[in-house]
Order: sequence, then C-alpha cells, then structure tokens
Amino acid sequence: MRKYFIGALAGLLAAACARPVPVAQDGTGLWLAAARPYDEILNGIHPAFNPRLAPEEYRIYDKDGERYIDAGSEAGLRYGVYALQRAEVLGEAGPGIDLSGKPYYDIRVLNHWDNLDDTVERGYAGLSMWEWTAPEIPEERIRRYGELCASIGLNGSVLNNVNANPLILDAEHIARVAKMADILREYGIKTYLSIKWTSPMTLSGLKGGDPLDPKVRQWWKDKAKEIYAAIPDFGGFLVKANSEGQAGPQDYGRTHADGANMLAEALQPYGGIVMWRAFVYSPTSPDRANQAVEEFLPLDGQFADNVIVQIKNGPVDFQPREPFSPLFGRLKETKMMMEFQITQEYLGFSNHLAYHGTTWEECLQADTYRQGPGSPVYKAVNAIAGVANTGQDPDFCGYVFAQANWYAFGRLAWDPTLSAAQIADEWVRQTFLKPEGMSPKAFEKKFVMPVKGILMASREAVVDYEMPLGLHHLFGGTHYGPAPWERLGRPDWTPAYYHQADSAGIGFDRTRTGSGNVDQYNEPLASAFNDLETCPENLLLWFHHLPWDYKLASGRTLWDEICLHYDRGIRTVDGFRATWQGLKPYVSPALWEETDRKLTIQARDARWWRDACVGYFQTFSGRPLPADVEPLKTPIDSLIGRSILSDQLGMPQHDEAGNPIIVKP
Ligand code: GCU
Repeated sequence: MRKYFIGALAGLLAAACARPVPVAQDGTGLWLAAARPYDEILNGIHPAFNPRLAPEEYRIYDKDGERYIDAGSEAGLRYGVYALQRAEVLGEAGPGIDLSGKPYYDIRVLNHWDNLDDTVERGYAGLSMWEWTAPEIPEERIRRYGELCASIGLNGSVLNNVNANPLILDAEHIARVAKMADILREYGIKTYLSIKWTSPMTLSGLKGGDPLDPKVRQWWKDKAKEIYAAIPDFGGFLVKANSEGQAGPQDYGRTHADGANMLAEALQPYGGIVMWRAFVYSPTSPDRANQAVEEFLPLDGQFADNVIVQIKNGPVDFQPREPFSPLFGRLKETKMMMEFQITQEYLGFSNHLAYHGTTWEECLQADTYRQGPGSPVYKAVNAIAGVANTGQDPDFCGYVFAQANWYAFGRLAWDPTLSAAQIADEWVRQTFLKPEGMSPKAFEKKFVMPVKGILMASREAVVDYEMPLGLHHLFGGTHYGPAPWERLGRPDWTPAYYHQADSAGIGFDRTRTGSGNVDQYNEPLASAFNDLETCPENLLLWFHHLPWDYKLASGRTLWDEICLHYDRGIRTVDGFRATWQGLKPYVSPALWEETDRKLTIQARDARWWRDACVGYFQTFSGRPLPADVEPLKTPIDSLIGRSILSDQLGMPQHDEAGNPIIVKP
C-alpha cells in the first residue's frame, strides 16, 4: 500500500514537472488545425431541413442524447457543421448544446486582386493561388480554400484584380472560371469577376464604351448570357471605373450610375449584381478625402436595385487608421458595401503582425448618425467585401499571424457585432495546438492569453510606429516603408500632400476653414471633428494642421507626442518579441521561428519608420527629441530618397539580423 502511494505520488510529481511538448505544426492547418474533419462531424449528427429557418441559418441542439443540426438549406447545414467544429475546439460543444447562427449580411465576399499572369497586386504570399497560367486549375487548393472560407461563413469570391484584364471575359477564361465555380459552389461560394470597362472594345472591336450606346449595352447583355450559360449561379461583376486611370462612363460624359445600371440591366435577368466601387479621386482636387462624397452623393437614388456601391472603410486608402468614409453616413437611397483590406498593403505586408479585428471593429461600430445617434456603420451597409491576403504559399497568407485577418474578416462578415477580442481568442485556440502534457488551463494562461494580448495591441503598435495621431499616407513607392520626404509627381500620391509639414506645424486641415471635409459627416460628428477640443486625438492630424508646440491632453507638445508615439510603437513591438521568447516551450519550432524572425524584422522596420518620420519632421520642427525616448539610430540624410531593396515580386529584403536593406532606387 505504502509503496503504491509513493509510486503514485512520484507519478503525479513527474506529471506536474513534465515539460510540455509542443505539437509539430507548420501553419498549413490554419484555423482548422485543431478541428475534427468536417465529414466526421457531419456523420455524427442528425441533419434536418427546417423551412422556417433562413437559407443560411442553423440550429445545433441535443435531444435524447443525440445531436441535431436543423438548417434552412444545404448552406445552413454546412455553416452549422462548421460552427459545431469550432465549438468543439473552443470547448463549447458539451452535452445540452444549443447554438444557432444566421449571417448578418447576405453577401460576404473576398476580393482577390489576382492577375492573369499570376502576379497578385498587393499580394504578399506568393503568386496567384488560382494559377491562371497553368494548364489545369489547382483543384486541391481550391477545395481547401473553399473549406476555409465556408468554415468562417464567407459565401463569395471575386477571382480577379479590380484592375482587370479584359481577357478574363474571353471564351477560354469563362470556361476556366466555370470549372473553378463548379468547385467553389460545393462550399457555398458564388463566383464573381472584376471587369474592365473597355472590354467590348478590346474583345470585339467596338468603337467606344458609352453606356448609353445600344451596341455597348447589347455587348454586355450577350456577354452576361454567355457567362450564365457556363455558370448558372454566377454572382456578378465588381467594377473599378474612372479610378486611378481606369476608363469608365465619365469618359463619355455619363455618370457612375449610368455605367453601373447598364451592367445591372445585363445581369438582372439572371439574378446577378454589380458591385460598383466608390474609390475615386482625381489629382487636381484639393482634398482626396472629399471626392467620393462629391461624386456619389448627387447620384443617391439613381442606382438600379441590383447595384451595390462598394466603399473602402476610410475616405483615402486603407491607412493604418482613418476615420470611416463619410459616404456611409450620407448615401440614403443606395445600397452600400463595406470594403476592408485584409492584405496588409500599408501595414508591413506579410512581415508585420497587425491584427485587423480591432481596425474593423472600430469602423463597423463607429456611429454615422445617419438616423440620429445609434446608427453604426455596420447597420448602414448591406454587404461586405475584403481584399484577400492569399497566395500560393503553403500557409496561404505568408505568415501564420496574417491568417488571423482572413479569419477575423470572415467572422465579422457573418456577425459584425462580434468583438475583436472574442475573435482573437477563437483564432488563437483554433490555430495553435496545445502542447502534449499541458492542461487546458495552463495553455490558456501561459499561451492563449499572451498571444491574444499581442494580437489586440498589434494594430495600434503599427499606427504608432508608422503614422500616429491621424498622420497618413507617409509611405514610399512599394507601400512598405516610410518616405515622408516624397513630394515629386502627382500631388495626391505624395506624402507631402497629406502631412503638410512645414516650420509652423503639421497635419491636413480638413476643418471648415480648410478643405471642409468635416462637413461631409453628420452632426454632431462634423462639429466634433472640426473642434480641437472634441476631435479624437487619434485623428488629430487627419483633421487639423497644428503648430509643433500645440499642447495635447497630456500637457506635452505635439512634437513631443509625435516622438513618444513612434517610440511607444517600437517598445510595444519589442514587448511582443520578449513575450514570444517566453512562448518557445509551447509552440512548434517551425511556427516559433517564423514568428520570431518576423517580429525581429518588424522591430527593425519600426525603427526605420521612426528614424525616417521623426528625423524628417525634425528638419521642420527644429526641436530635440524628448529625453525619455530612444535616440534615432540612422541620420536622416542617409534615409531621404532611399527605400528598401525589393525582389522581382516587390517583396522587401532584410539582412540576416532583420534590418531593412536600404538602397538608393
Ligand atoms: C490602392 C492600391 C492599388 C489598388 C487600388 C484600388 O491604391 O495601391 O494597388 O489598385 O488601391 O483599390 O483600386
């Protein structure tokens, strides 16, 4: 007996002292890494179709010791099975489960900026996952993609770049897209295409693209017929017109509404839609942030029923922080669609850890006051799109932490009221496998919580070390690094247009005495933004041009606060690195090392951003850095006019130690 006790005690002690053994994983499991296979879950439940439920709705419950999923359709059942799969991993699928779900938006799509030559515009995870140039479509990858999208509730994909190649609509590509659509359909995903306005001219030699020209109208009707013959459930077109050099109806003296409605008419008999982008601006305007409202507000009420205007979250272009686009508060008779950017074009590509759950939560929850207080952006929009961050890389996104943004987008598209914190929590638990020999409680405390902490602080860290206090558009040519000194060329493509730094101060004056942009917002926001007392500090230099010695809430000068924010960003990333060092015992070496290397790069890049921006602005402010910040590392003279070395795909290059390789272009 005594011997037994001693033996048992020794066993317990050994277990308590045993080191957890990380489970090998390489990031290719994404957020399904820890889950039971879909079919296994499906086979273990009783499915039933219930016509009282909406088509995509499900309910999971237990009765007499058996598990049931009721659903409104095949699609609802699929979402139910995935919801159960998630609940199992999260430990929320015990006996007595009662879980229902229904998507907030009917249209939840990814926009792939993939080109027919297999490059991806703003893609940082390798070449196009669709492999346009290969003889066959990559069926296995498309299936895996379908599974990943369906598991988070996405139901549409625009396969090609908004800067579209007209050849996407030739017979060969339609046949290829039809094959892809056949696979995606199995996962409840509708296929959409981006079109080029000039397609009738390029493909059929028409003389022009006037949307009121009967020949042009007929061409699109014929094209729609041809597409629907191959893809009966084709979703419709995404259109970038009269934007950044793309042709459009305005070239013929017509409006966005004329153009969109022509396409809408062609798609209408088949149930297709037009997603018409509001990303418009011209180089001559004194404030780019004003232009979408200026062009689209007069057209409110003129768009056909099957047109949705797709609007980027902010009025400029996916900057680390922007206020929400004023269009969300102003268009009243037009269907609107949110456009978020999942790919990190301005937030360190697939090198920086920048969780966008918080970015998007901030935008979706922002009050537009379109019908008085309590009119958040998420209620103003009817549909949602995200510019994808996928590529051929085996883990799809080029960084395990970039996967979190695809996941977060899907979850918010399903339910825009979910919190960024909840989504982060779910993602960590589903992505990283609990080490062997570690209790769930210990895993939660020692791994899940610290990683969640990193995610939740990450976007603000990027704002701090790239463009704090409402600064924006300070990036250089490749959109990876800083170039606040750039002022040559098209003005609204240069940082100088946006920061307006001079010896007197810094910031873009969008007040009533400036560009008047504040008045595109509804009251009381317009006055709040206009007034220095009430303008949120994190948007201060978005709306105001202020002297360097302007006093902020902290009592410090603007100059000091700018320096402190850059410094805080660096420290936060250093903190992520330190935390990650401590997590080594719990993560597969492959994932640990990848993240460690990328966090090192991020920390070095953060210093580059700080050196470039603070160093450059100091040439105007003429002030010393506050005593309590880390001194600049690289003198500004050796940064001005230089950028990071990039490879043929535009991917930034760093040395062994993770420092950016800065070169003269
Ligand atoms: C940004 C981006 C472009 C893209 C454009 C768009 O300007 O840099 O690559 O084409 O947005 O959204 O249309």
